[in-house]
Amino acid sequence: MTAKVFFWALLLTLGLSASDEFTYNGFNGVNLSVDGLAGITSDGLLRLTNATRHATGHAFYPSPMRFKKSQVDKVLSFSTTFVFAIIPEHQMLGSSGFTFVLSPSKELAKDSADDYFLGIVNMTNNGNASNHILAVEFDTWDSPEAEDINDNHVGIDINGIISNYSKPAGFTSDDDGKFQNLTLFSGEPMQAWIEYNGTNTQLSVTLAPMWKPKPKIALLSPTINLSSIILDHMYVGFTGAVGITYSYYYILGWSFEMDARAPELNLSSLPLLPQNLTSLEKKRKTLLLWLPLTLLLVLLTVAGATLVVVRKKRFSEMHDDWELEFESNRFPYEQLYKATRGFKDKCLLGIGGFGSVYRGVLPASKVEVAVKRVAVHESKKEVKEFVAEIVSLGKLRHRNLVQLLGYCRRKGELLLVYEYMPNGSLDKFLFYETKQTLDWSLRFQIIKGVASGLQYLHEGWDQVVIHRDIKASNILLDGDMKGKIADFGLAKLHDHGAAPQSTNVVGTLGFLAPELARTCKVTTSIDVFAFGAFLFEVACGRRAIEPNKQESEQVLVDWVFANWKMGTIHETKDPRLGEDYVLEELDLVLKLGLFCSHPLPSARPSMRQITQYLNRDVPLPEMLPYHCHGDGIF
Ligand SMILES: *[C@@H]1O[C@H](CO)[C@@H](O)[C@H](O)[C@H]1NC(C)=O
Ligand SMILES: *[C@@H]1O[C@H](CO)[C@@H](O)[C@H](O)[C@H]1NC(C)=O
Ligand SMILES: *[C@@H]1O[C@H](CO)[C@@H](O)[C@H](O)[C@H]1NC(C)=O
Ligand SMILES: *[C@@H]1O[C@H](CO)[C@@H](O)[C@H](O)[C@H]1NC(C)=O
Ligand SMILES: *[C@@H]1O[C@H](CO)[C@@H](O)[C@H](O)[C@H]1NC(C)=O
Ligand SMILES: *[C@@H]1O[C@H](CO)[C@@H](O)[C@H](O)[C@H]1NC(C)=O
Ligand SMILES: *[C@@H]1O[C@H](CO)[C@@H](O)[C@H](O)[C@H]1NC(C)=O
Ligand SMILES: *[C@@H]1O[C@H](CO)[C@@H](O)[C@H](O)[C@H]1NC(C)=O
Ligand SMILES: *[C@@H]1O[C@H](CO)[C@@H](O)[C@H](O)[C@H]1NC(C)=O
Ligand SMILES: *[C@@H]1O[C@H](CO)[C@@H](O)[C@H](O)[C@H]1NC(C)=O
Repeated sequence: MTAKVFFWALLLTLGLSASDEFTYNGFNGVNLSVDGLAGITSDGLLRLTNATRHATGHAFYPSPMRFKKSQVDKVLSFSTTFVFAIIPEHQMLGSSGFTFVLSPSKELAKDSADDYFLGIVNMTNNGNASNHILAVEFDTWDSPEAEDINDNHVGIDINGIISNYSKPAGFTSDDDGKFQNLTLFSGEPMQAWIEYNGTNTQLSVTLAPMWKPKPKIALLSPTINLSSIILDHMYVGFTGAVGITYSYYYILGWSFEMDARAPELNLSSLPLLPQNLTSLEKKRKTLLLWLPLTLLLVLLTVAGATLVVVRKKRFSEMHDDWELEFESNRFPYEQLYKATRGFKDKCLLGIGGFGSVYRGVLPASKVEVAVKRVAVHESKKEVKEFVAEIVSLGKLRHRNLVQLLGYCRRKGELLLVYEYMPNGSLDKFLFYETKQTLDWSLRFQIIKGVASGLQYLHEGWDQVVIHRDIKASNILLDGDMKGKIADFGLAKLHDHGAAPQSTNVVGTLGFLAPELARTCKVTTSIDVFAFGAFLFEVACGRRAIEPNKQESEQVLVDWVFANWKMGTIHETKDPRLGEDYVLEELDLVLKLGLFCSHPLPSARPSMRQITQYLNRDVPLPEMLPYHCHGDGIF
């Protein structure tokens, strides 16, 4: 009996001695567990990150806190408050953000790629209920995958980076009851209070500028039963993450208490922010305003102004008078930069003949886009002609054309903004073993769609647009697997001063009409020839040229032609189709392909006729054997 009492008394003492409360007015001499970029500065600031990009930092109170009383599954009340400041690399751009976190482990995501996950989770365990992580994020980056509401918000995250609750940063003033915005990455110190009431399970998060008393109305105050999320023992701390741009996340002071309200911080004894960077930045800007007048001064402050100049250069664009009429089709570079998270590799969709394509989400409208970066020579006249053409091509609207939304121009490069096509390019479905096989009806639909889009390019407009590079990899698939033609009009780039990335011949081997070698004359029938090769790609499920195959099968057109002569044309169909195809349609597609591949341009059908054949409005005429051979092109 006495032993038992003694045991409990001991446990209680131990429980108390593993103190469940602390107050740090500055962090000089404080024992925290830090990793990654985090550290305590000589001024006594807790700094979660520094001027490194793509990295994380963590700082935890070294021993875990007890959040549940032994027998009961109820989570105890807890409360914390801290003063923080975010000093960004660029004044108008945040970085990923930082969090206050409760976690069963001090070992959280440390990979350079984990910056994207705020340093709390990684790609594999994001959202997994076995994480037992509760975080309050102070997020300064609008990331679509995290379903962020904007680039300046506070959110409550359970087990992952998709916030369960979030609001734009700000506070409700006690004076007039109005909501006032706060910019988290303004560099100004702010205070946050995070409180959980174990009785009514309300978690409240309140934010205010430093020196303001805690507002009565919290920014977020959802009721969340934390009993399944929080374990008996959890570590409390902070995580910070920096991506393409960096920010310094500073914690100036921090207090925490279990089962009671956290002790107030003594604001006047908190350490000062280093050099007060915000005011420094403002001074530099003023200097820049006087730049034309005080050349001498500029020379003296070149070093100081470099930061600003670099930033300006990063977002600088080319604007000429002639472009005024296209202004409504123009995207600010900064928007595209933010949309693609700084043209991050993660957003790279692919690299084509004209340059790299990035996926992005426009910050304001949340529209998903694909941004193509095309290198151009600096000849004004040529660029002007091309931009004029691009803008007019943007007016082309057809359900089987990838919509061009606009452009942006910088030194040496053009950025073209297209609608985003979630299913990527058709060739992947046809040629990659790992992708699902397209069934025949889908293939036939795509063929008809592409024919209709190409007919529109050739005939539907006051100007004939010749694509010049029709092939499966230039057909993109939307969310409903509808085929759309990409890159139309871009072939003309070569005539208008684009820096060629590969060959000088526009088009792709295996799709080039034989007459091109002789005449170089570009007519609609070269698109028809390529369309023929495209039909074979879709029906046969292989590339137009496969050098690894035995000689008679290397060139797809020749192989189909040879089979046709032997009466075995259907055997060229994609083996992955199995028995799933409509014989008449397959027959039509293959024979139409041969028809389009006729060496004589005048013998090929027009796109109008092709759509009629495909729609069975007109029967495909019987074809006479012609002498098929790539005439020196292959
Ligand atoms: C940032 O902090 C890390 C870890 O403390 C350190 O290795 C690195 O050199 C620092 N980088 C800069 C730019 O200060
Ligand atoms: C910091 O705290 C940890 C855990 O309580 C302890 O192991 C370590 O010795 C402490 N370090 C210092 C320098 O006090
Ligand atoms: C993700 O984090 C978990 C838990 O910290 C870890 O076990 C896992 O190895 C990490 N995965 C990757 C790919 O880094
Ligand atoms: C969640 O994590 C656990 C433990 O790491 C793992 O066994 C489980 O498969 C994960 N669940 C999902 C949906 O990834
Ligand atoms: C929080 O959101 C995640 C998914 O984002 C969901 O699985 C979880 O149930 C949510 N939790 C609460 C308490 O709303
Ligand atoms: C506060 O920010 C929101 C967007 O987050 C904006 O719509 C609103 O106009 C801003 N309010 C003020 C007073 O600036
Ligand atoms: C917690 O909620 C209960 C019930 O609503 C309330 O009586 C109590 O005062 C709250 N505790 C605190 C610390 O606000
Ligand atoms: C919270 O959930 C647990 C079980 O998950 C339950 O036992 C408890 O009563 C709930 N608490 C409240 C306040 O709803
Ligand atoms: C707050 O800190 C200041 C400066 O260090 C000190 O003079 C003052 O006594 C402190 N106030 C309290 C209530 O501790
Ligand atoms: C930084 O300087 C500005 C203007 O000089 C001042 O308003 C602000 O309070 C200072 N911030 C800190 C943390 O010292």
